[in-house]
Amino acid sequence: MKYDLIVIGGGPAGYLGAQRAANEGLKTLLIEGRRVGGVCLNEGCIPSKTLLHSAKIYDYARFSEKYGITAKEVEYDHGKVIKRKNKVVRILVAGVKSQLKAAKVSLVEGYASIKGKIPGGYLVGVNDDVYKASRLLIATGSTPIIPPMPGAKEGMKEGRVLTNREILDLNQIPQSLVIVGGGVIGLEMASYYNSVGSKVTVIEMLDRIGGATDRDISTILLKKYQSRGIDFKLEAKVVTIDGDKVIYEHGGQEVAVEADKVLMSVGRKPVTEGIGLETIGVEVENGAIKTDERGLTNIPNVYAAGDVNGISLLAHTAYREAEVCINNMVGNRDLMSYNAIPSVIYTNPEVASVGETEETAKKKGIDIEGIKLPMRYSGRYLAENEGGNGICKIVVDKKTNSLLGVHMIGNPASEIIYGAALMIGKQMSIEDIKKLVFPHPTVAEIIREGIFQL
Ligand code: NAI
Repeated sequence: MKYDLIVIGGGPAGYLGAQRAANEGLKTLLIEGRRVGGVCLNEGCIPSKTLLHSAKIYDYARFSEKYGITAKEVEYDHGKVIKRKNKVVRILVAGVKSQLKAAKVSLVEGYASIKGKIPGGYLVGVNDDVYKASRLLIATGSTPIIPPMPGAKEGMKEGRVLTNREILDLNQIPQSLVIVGGGVIGLEMASYYNSVGSKVTVIEMLDRIGGATDRDISTILLKKYQSRGIDFKLEAKVVTIDGDKVIYEHGGQEVAVEADKVLMSVGRKPVTEGIGLETIGVEVENGAIKTDERGLTNIPNVYAAGDVNGISLLAHTAYREAEVCINNMVGNRDLMSYNAIPSVIYTNPEVASVGETEETAKKKGIDIEGIKLPMRYSGRYLAENEGGNGICKIVVDKKTNSLLGVHMIGNPASEIIYGAALMIGKQMSIEDIKKLVFPHPTVAEIIREGIFQL
């Protein structure tokens, strides 16, 4: 059984890569060990957004008076919410499978392991079969980091300590939830469980939440969620889990907080073990597969895309990386660029960013001009976000007079940010951006407003 390409891993990088390859005429085999769709479709992006949307509707209903509507006896049915989430996932996974079928991608379910090199290609074993291919695309993704802290592994066995996988499938809302790590997953799940009634504590090692998020925006988000009752412990490092107690260090002291459930969201790491990379000598650096701008590893015709390269760990980056790999495989030179990749935290309000923040630009020694605008300058935002205090920050390179970064907090920032990514990716000058016509009234107009206020 000889293929032009074997794709290992069926998440966003793998399934899209396989589809694009087949469309380019490559005889393609996709091997997936768990579920087609990967973490994103099955236990990440899609299920979390489905739950968060239900929580948002619940919040709207409970706090609708500020919009002149009184809703009585609003109830949250967790069982039905989970059922709907499962339905959404099922539909999407079926959709991906049917697209793969339509593209004539062969699909094998099982864990793949590279067996070695043969003249003109590679051998890959799965279940009890061995397949041959002239090219490989490794897209094995990432897995949650479980720090080597006492009690963490035991807690997972007991079902008290959870990862992104289990937290999306609880059959009951926990009374109390401690979240270890105030990064993207931690904040999205804090938002959800706060809305649906858990007592949520977020313990974060840094002095801010949201990692590299712009500091002003991170502070607004922190205050918003503090006002809704989430308890944040900053500059606090979790060191031990002892039954229902989470113990963290803060200011030289050890403090314990009790929790029914604990979410471990301290980052993810690439999956590079157990796939036979060593049999053909694929270089792994700091736990991630090393690739060049074409997605190529150090081994000819062996490419890697998605979280496994450890660069960006975002599904949308994975899509583009996979496309870059396939384009290069079929001889269309294409280089990956990371300077305009948007990122979103799906809290309520949403946070969306692209490009340099004031902080990162200054660190790089770029001479910048920045502006910070209240989102309330947008009529549409004002109409739809009663009491909202969102902001939009714009960072411009003074020397080239081009846009470097846009960062916002306020709904629906996630749907707006790609416009800014386009402007940055295309290196548009401020003068060119001024000539763009935005639909009115939209929240996106805040970018135009900011550009004219520079
Ligand atoms: P993260 O890297 O975003 O955040 C982890 C946080 O945990 C950091 O702020 C770190 O300082 C803190 N931390 C580490 N050890 C700690 C300890 N012992 N005690 C207290 N705090 C500690 O990682 P997260 O949230 O697990 O997300 C993983 C990946 O998934 C991210 O790379 C993200 O890109 C991706 N993701 C993206 C989403 C999106 O785009 N909306 C949604 C969910 C995940």
